[in-house]
Amino acid sequence: MSLLTESQAWLDLKAHQSASKQHSVRDLFKLDIQRFSKFSLCFEDILVDFSKQPVTQQTVDLLLTLARQQNLETWINRMFLGEKINHTENRAVLHTALRSKKPVILDGEDVTLRVKHELQKMMRFSSAVRNGEYLGYSGRSITDIVNIGIGGSDLGPLMVTKALQPYCSERLKAHFVSNVDGVQLYETLHQLNPATTLFIIASKTFTTQETMANAHSARDWFVAKSGNKDAVSKHFIAVSTNLEAVKTFGVDADNMFKFWDWVGGRYSLWSSIGLSIALMVGMDHFEALLAGADAMDQHFSTAPLEKNIPVILALLAVWHINFNGIRSHAVLPYDQYLHRFPAYLQQLEMESNGKRISRDGQEVDYQTGTVIWGEPGTNGQHAFYQLLHQGTQNISADFLAPCQSQHPIGNHHLLLLANFFAQTEALMRGKNEDEVRNDLESEGLSSEYIEKLLPHKTFPGNRPTTSILYKKLTPRTLGTLIAMYEHKVFVQSVIWNINPFDQWGVELGKQLSNKILPELEQSGPVSTHDVSTNGLINFFKNNQN
Ligand code: F6P
Repeated sequence: MSLLTESQAWLDLKAHQSASKQHSVRDLFKLDIQRFSKFSLCFEDILVDFSKQPVTQQTVDLLLTLARQQNLETWINRMFLGEKINHTENRAVLHTALRSKKPVILDGEDVTLRVKHELQKMMRFSSAVRNGEYLGYSGRSITDIVNIGIGGSDLGPLMVTKALQPYCSERLKAHFVSNVDGVQLYETLHQLNPATTLFIIASKTFTTQETMANAHSARDWFVAKSGNKDAVSKHFIAVSTNLEAVKTFGVDADNMFKFWDWVGGRYSLWSSIGLSIALMVGMDHFEALLAGADAMDQHFSTAPLEKNIPVILALLAVWHINFNGIRSHAVLPYDQYLHRFPAYLQQLEMESNGKRISRDGQEVDYQTGTVIWGEPGTNGQHAFYQLLHQGTQNISADFLAPCQSQHPIGNHHLLLLANFFAQTEALMRGKNEDEVRNDLESEGLSSEYIEKLLPHKTFPGNRPTTSILYKKLTPRTLGTLIAMYEHKVFVQSVIWNINPFDQWGVELGKQLSNKILPELEQSGPVSTHDVSTNGLINFFKNNQN
């Protein structure tokens, strides 16, 4: 048994879970008409309603006791103060410094000065491209931007650019290439004119296999199409922490945008990795995004735990994952502009908290992390909601929606929101046998048929959802929402005593693929692996041509 699972706070939650099974949320609403105001929190124009979660005040209090036992407030301070809490990489974790208006001291230096310098460079560059002053090799303005990166160097910029489409320049088109599958690069390049295209090679390390393969192939394409090798430095921009590798690739030092090892890949959209965002939405909107995140940082670092939105969201997740056996969490934006948000959160949460070894190097004896997935509403309703409502496993979900549509058409937004409210209500209430029987009787069905149908038409309800409503998906609101989830993930890691800032788990597959690549390049069968891997490789080789 670990210290965590033996601790009083953990044992109290376990006992509470067994005792509280008899309450349905439906009953809890009947017992307390103040439940909505007691179990919802507001921040700026965002409302987070967790009153449909199967929790009582006692549950929340016990979870808060667990958070205090795990020294959450100390850990929050340690992160904001730049302590090297990413201990397996000996690094500070200061993505918050990228959006901080106050000085942040790391190793005796105010790192926000470096951040400002890079932001100013981004401002100059993005305005020159946006207003058409930055010219390509043939003297024409840029019309297309291709961000080549993967993981955090892709998902953040891609998700934000899609989310802020109404704020994007109409003169520029953004493309994102991440997959090493050449099909994605082909489909992107074949629509482009090299004379008006700007490539951004976004990679913290500048060694990532997929990004470097795409970058080299894009450069080959550019040189072949333009017939102008010298123009590479004008059309290829880099964002990285690795100056040497950038220079070797052929990017002009002036066209390199920096960031630092204290910014984790999946927390990097706020840094110059966000260059494609700034190019598309303009620096004023990029700064509004940063300001929204900074506002959430202030809230997270100062609000009492019981009123702290990321803390409450994380504790609810811990309640479900560790005490209710829930293994899957859906993110369901009723906002088409957030259609890449679930994919973005997948990396944020699963790469951060997919860990089985504690900070002290012990294998944990409790669940960490969870499966994150989702699709925008209402599409998901016609695909997987059946399982949410009536499946055998309980799945928690966040529903997100804007009060104002960016493009009101007829009554579409009312239809969308009617579905949002109906789904969260249905998941909470369910439908009991009496209600189903009444419905079927009113349809005039025979009692024999009604009894047959009854089990199929009942819904257990009590499915845990949090509803997040915001006025409008502005750059500021988006920044606030993303930072809210970043901090939620951190709080979970503190409860679980794991390091959410490394990602060693992605290494093994990378190493093996480097070993397999030469075997694919050579002719003849392969016999160096297990029989399955040998069989698959040899089948591939035999069918390659
Ligand atoms: O998936 C592993 C990872 O290191 C991510 O954490 C990171 O976002 C991604 O690869 C890309 O890394 P880089 O920016 O160094 O190319």
